[in-house]
Amino acid sequence: MTERNLKVVLGSRPEGKPTVDNFRVEEGPLPVAAEGQVLVRNQWLSIDPYMRGRMMDIRTYAEPVALGDVMVGDTAGVVVASRHPDFAPGDPVAAYLGWQRFGVAEGGALRRVDPRIPLSVSLGAAGMPGVTAWVGLLDLCQPKAGETVVVSAASGGVGSVAGQLARIAGCRVVGIAGGADKCRHVTEALGFDACLDYRAEDFRQQLKAAVPKGIDCIFDNVGGPVLEALIGRINPFARVTLCGAISEVDNPSPTGLRRLLPLIVNRVKLQGFIVGDHLERWPVAIADLSGHVAAGRIRYHETLAEGLEAAPQALLDLLAGRSLGKQLVRIP
Ligand SMILES: NC(=O)c1ccc[n+]([C@@H]2O[C@H](COP(=O)([O-])OP(=O)(O)OC[C@H]3O[C@@H](n4cnc5c(N)ncnc54)[C@H](OP(=O)(O)O)[C@@H]3O)[C@@H](O)[C@H]2O)c1
Repeated sequence: MTERNLKVVLGSRPEGKPTVDNFRVEEGPLPVAAEGQVLVRNQWLSIDPYMRGRMMDIRTYAEPVALGDVMVGDTAGVVVASRHPDFAPGDPVAAYLGWQRFGVAEGGALRRVDPRIPLSVSLGAAGMPGVTAWVGLLDLCQPKAGETVVVSAASGGVGSVAGQLARIAGCRVVGIAGGADKCRHVTEALGFDACLDYRAEDFRQQLKAAVPKGIDCIFDNVGGPVLEALIGRINPFARVTLCGAISEVDNPSPTGLRRLLPLIVNRVKLQGFIVGDHLERWPVAIADLSGHVAAGRIRYHETLAEGLEAAPQALLDLLAGRSLGKQLVRIP
């Protein structure tokens, strides 16, 4: 029997919170590689918060997914057929082929995976989330040894790497995460100096105690009340990397920053950024991150969903904070 493609398409746009019914699983023929292209069998799909935005009919920094189209996403897999001179069947590659088992990519859009790391890690610590942490922390926050760095969503794909890079840079690193289990993971497995549960009633008092010398760098993934609390402990000439604002997703009236005076009197630099604007930094970032992972200096945890049919629920789990580390889908 000839093999068929399996894909997950966007069936409808969410009204309010997304549900699994917004997606549809479909079968179809295998795509065919044209001259210069490569056919890849995906083994891993990365699930990321930006996918929530792509479900909406709103243009932000990227186009929305059209109804009936395959959901977008980073993938890692193995070359099946190649009409590009740089790739041969069996090569492990990372690409942006979306929620499907087979996909065709231009050869120039494929990334060869470093053989020192597992294929799945090319979607996590040594993939887009890792590069986001690397650019946002090292290029934008520019931490110096001895400084205090605070990372929110610290147990997640981006935050876990940002905090470990700050530790490697010789900083005191404090993570913020939801719940005792995530915090234990952040200190015990990832080696942060401290981790605070932002849902604790005395969160602000705990924060004060955890950053006795104030905060020199905030790597913020969540926005809202957490960022506001961190700004209250900011040091002169601190840097704030605004990486994400996941607390605003599904929140019809998000609470923003109401404390601007500490930013002004401390001459703080806030920088929003999108990792896709820094393509020239990807090769050096991925090489550096792969080296750290291979040497065990950066550790990672993966939450795995089995099969493409499980991808919609995996996205809902990620957004609700039910996954730990990098959320992936294994594609059999
Ligand atoms: N700027 C860029 O180019 C770029 C690139 C990639 C990712 N990002 C952003 O980086 C952030 C992290 O991405 P990721 O892939 O590493 O995801 P992740 O951290 O693995 O997963 C998202 C986490 O957000 C936390 N969260 C959810 N709702 C929250 C709320 N209301 N308040 C506080 N925390 C909440 C949850 O952790 P807890 O259980 O700890 O609450 C959840 O595990 C996201 O905001 C994403 O949009 C930005």
